[in-house]
Amino acid sequence: MKKTIKLLTKENEIRVIDDALDIYLEIPHLAYAEVKKKDGGKALLFTNVIDKKSGKKFDESVLMNVFGSYKRCELLFGRTIESIADEITKLLHMKPPASFGEKLSMASDLFALKNIFPKRLKGKGKCQEIEYLNDDINLLDIPVLTTWEQDGGPFITMGQVYTQSFDGQLVNVGMYRLQVYDKNHLGMHWQIHKDSSHFFDQYQKAGKKMPVSIAIGGDPLYTWCATAPLPYGVNELLMYGLIKKQPARLVQSITTPLCVPEDADYVIEGWIDPSELKTEGPFGDHTGYYTLEEPYPVMEVSAITTKKDRVFLATVVGKPPLEDKYMGWATGKIFFPLLKTTVPDLLDYHMPENGGFHNLILAKMQPHYKGHAKQFMHAFWGAGQMSFVKHAIFVDENGPRLDNYEVFATYILDRFTPKSMFISEGILDALDHSSPETLVGGKLGIDATAANKVEAPQLLGDEELLKEVKELIPDAVDLHQFMRRTKNPITVISLNKTKTVKEYFEALVTLSTYIRIVVFVDVEKNDVNNSYMIIWRVTNNMDAQRDIFISGLMVGIDGTNKTSLDGFTREWPDDVDCTKSVVESLKEKGLWDLDDKLFNEYQLM
Ligand SMILES: Cc1cc2nc3c(=O)[nH]c(=O)nc-3n(C[C@H](O)[C@H](O)[C@H](O)COP(=O)(O)O)c2cc1C
Repeated sequence: MKKTIKLLTKENEIRVIDDALDIYLEIPHLAYAEVKKKDGGKALLFTNVIDKKSGKKFDESVLMNVFGSYKRCELLFGRTIESIADEITKLLHMKPPASFGEKLSMASDLFALKNIFPKRLKGKGKCQEIEYLNDDINLLDIPVLTTWEQDGGPFITMGQVYTQSFDGQLVNVGMYRLQVYDKNHLGMHWQIHKDSSHFFDQYQKAGKKMPVSIAIGGDPLYTWCATAPLPYGVNELLMYGLIKKQPARLVQSITTPLCVPEDADYVIEGWIDPSELKTEGPFGDHTGYYTLEEPYPVMEVSAITTKKDRVFLATVVGKPPLEDKYMGWATGKIFFPLLKTTVPDLLDYHMPENGGFHNLILAKMQPHYKGHAKQFMHAFWGAGQMSFVKHAIFVDENGPRLDNYEVFATYILDRFTPKSMFISEGILDALDHSSPETLVGGKLGIDATAANKVEAPQLLGDEELLKEVKELIPDAVDLHQFMRRTKNPITVISLNKTKTVKEYFEALVTLSTYIRIVVFVDVEKNDVNNSYMIIWRVTNNMDAQRDIFISGLMVGIDGTNKTSLDGFTREWPDDVDCTKSVVESLKEKGLWDLDDKLFNEYQLM
């Protein structure tokens, strides 16, 4: 981490904060504000870290937002993301060499591959300069942050979690949040679809304790590797070797059989009794909602080792944009060549940050036959972690750039009819709260590869249209129509819901001369003019099987919170919001410098 701090300082990419700040809300709130700034702001180094509740002052600094910009991402990868994607494409398309020159170039490519395998070092690493064992183990001596008011406690947010299969043949590193319960117990939030959860099942079946080692810090690329969605059985540290062209350097933990990067700042080792699960959460998550309490395995810590000169690395999640926007950007680009092996006619794909990754994907393809886009949708919904995607929109090769949202939306809306939609069911990210049941739910695909002929509707101004709408829906409060120059303008209506949205939609059908796509949201916490947050809200809240209604050319989408009124029996989570008193106190200290415009646009409160 010290090396990273030096690099970021040299590049003017870090802001040092020497004021005494609390691990409870203050530090994470400031990091949350920083990443909302244009281009992700700076990395933040907090040098005076305190725990106001216990009166403790920590020796170490806390480092945050290291990946929070495109520039910093590439600095930490040590090369451009494009060059990594190109190298993977080249490896996947290796052909027998046709000339001596090609033979030489292939030999050098293959020679470089020897570095991808992690190297196990003899003896101890820098991460083991200090050892805490038995009564000296105390997780509360690490400056672990509590980010949000309703969080169940402090959470380690950038832990590389090293595990191995029961037979010891497979090793894995995944990034999962870890709840600090007390001085020597951690909650392991590996969701059911993740590799460590599969390993855990094996130990549970055998009735044997499972070893885990968690590394924090070291070369930041280890942290990114832990988030990489490689298939079950593939060690993510191979990516480290491929990207850095030098092997990950590992040492064995002192009380578990697992190996960890020798330069990590902290290593927390321990064992899980598979017969014991404990309530984990709530936690304000990257969906922008709290994830609710659920039972997860518990690790009893058997050792903590650290560098002498250690820095604690953490991130903050909540509503977009977040640091994971930039990490996800790198992942998307690096994994594109691998995804193409399943769907070769895929030309590009993009996950808009306000779609929370899995809630919305835009893709460009070369369609060759009828139903080709639908075939792609099924492929996406069956491909590893891509299968969490809830809503996918496909355009053909003539479609515009996927990140030019205005032009892209115009292209789709000019060729859309309700027939362009395809609704299915599949697995969902464990964090999804919209579906009537956990883990499975509706999927929406939009095939905009073919142009449908559609007449544009007649247009009324927002005020006039709202008047008409209120005649039919007295609960409607506000209205704004987006994309009015297209064949399918999008009308957003906010309301105080007293009926099901289906009933509201049916009441609106008589206005089909003026309305094509209509999106309903609750009046509370939604601004009908803020398209960024409306997309975030609606793609989070909708389940395609339940929340889409069609009548002729009209399509209704229910983006409201679901309640017993909708027959919804699960608990609906709260939004993740900043705590007013914390923001005010940071303002008083002169540390909070986020523009009010961005504060409101990203709905921090
Ligand atoms: C900031 C951040 C926090 C994350 N937290 C979790 C988590 O708590 N639980 C989880 O299962 N995945 C979490 N993930 C996603 C996993 O890291 C990701 O799915 C990874 O590919 C899992 O590795 P695995 O396939 O080896 O299990 C998080 C990702 C990021 C970027």
